[in-house]
Amino acid sequence: MPQPRSLHHRRARLLNHGRVAKALVQSAANPYRPLMAHMVVTRRCNLSCGYCHEYDKGSLPVPIETLKARVRRLAALDTVFVTLTGGETLLHPDIVELVAYVRDQGMTPVMNSNGLLLSPRKIRALGRAGLYAMQISIDNVEPDEVSKKSLRPLLPKLRALAELATFRVRVNSVLGTGNPEEAVAVALAVTELGFDAKCSLVRDAHGAGIPLSDAARAAYDEIRALNRRTWSLSEDFQLALIENKSVSWKCRSGARYFTICEDGLVHLCESSYGTPAKPLELYGLADIREAFHREKTCADTCAVAYAHQASRMDSWRDQGEVQRVEKCSWREAEDSSRTYLPVMS
Ligand SMILES: C[S@@+](CC[C@H](N)C(=O)[O-])C[C@H]1O[C@@H](n2cnc3c(N)ncnc32)[C@H](O)[C@@H]1O
Repeated sequence: MPQPRSLHHRRARLLNHGRVAKALVQSAANPYRPLMAHMVVTRRCNLSCGYCHEYDKGSLPVPIETLKARVRRLAALDTVFVTLTGGETLLHPDIVELVAYVRDQGMTPVMNSNGLLLSPRKIRALGRAGLYAMQISIDNVEPDEVSKKSLRPLLPKLRALAELATFRVRVNSVLGTGNPEEAVAVALAVTELGFDAKCSLVRDAHGAGIPLSDAARAAYDEIRALNRRTWSLSEDFQLALIENKSVSWKCRSGARYFTICEDGLVHLCESSYGTPAKPLELYGLADIREAFHREKTCADTCAVAYAHQASRMDSWRDQGEVQRVEKCSWREAEDSSRTYLPVMS
């Protein structure tokens, strides 16, 4: 069963929930406001997952002052969520200070991690710094040759999170990388601990979904059923991809969502490195506006979940030019926010 939460934890979550809900509703009215910026804090990773194209083994962490300057630029663009990522995020020596800085700049800090470097002390410090949510990646129960992001070695860290985290925890498994039954076992175990369990589809180096086996498809259905309450409509693109159907959506990467690499360049998403590769300090409203409207040729087969989620906010809009700011559909805004808002328990 989920751990009982202290009054302090509940209060912290409730306050965060209200603040984020307000920012999301406000941003629904402004199509050129970035919802999610992913910022690489170090490219180095302590693991070498067989399906991952997003790490190296030797580079140095980006200096904290450089990252802070990037955070200020994201604040100037009125960004809602800043996701700190890598490589492995917890390898950055100043990660807690950076989380606090994102919060101080008026934005909502989120983190992706494999969780292996978590300790009770670090969990408390991240909570105090104002971390809003952490996504932990766990692909299987036992480490194998493809992924060592595994439930068994991570269980002590997950129990510490269940006891101490004031932030929301979501566990994500990449389906199509190993034994799908183990992904279901991960989802069941983390749901018992009170966390959200999600899965995403393995994608190739260009972001296209890779076909799933029947067993992986069945695992997807089971994990989805387990999380019916927190599953947002924006995740249903995965079903279409699994069934080899084309997905009807307009990608807003480069505007609502983008990624900033260790060199401080803006890319449309983690699978579109090199486009436009413009320095963040020069990236402005004109770039956001252009990216918002641009047709992306990779959209039909895209399995980049963040791109779909961030684009969902605007699915109610005219898919061509935005001539005027229209009235926000509450249903769309609410569905977009469901991806991030804590389950009120
Ligand atoms: C690149 S990692 C970086 C942060 C951190 N090290 C972690 O494990 O979460 C971010 C996320 O991207 C996922 N990922 C990496 N390569 C992928 C691929 N080819 N297809 C789908 N997801 C992928 C990882 O599993 C992880 O959930």
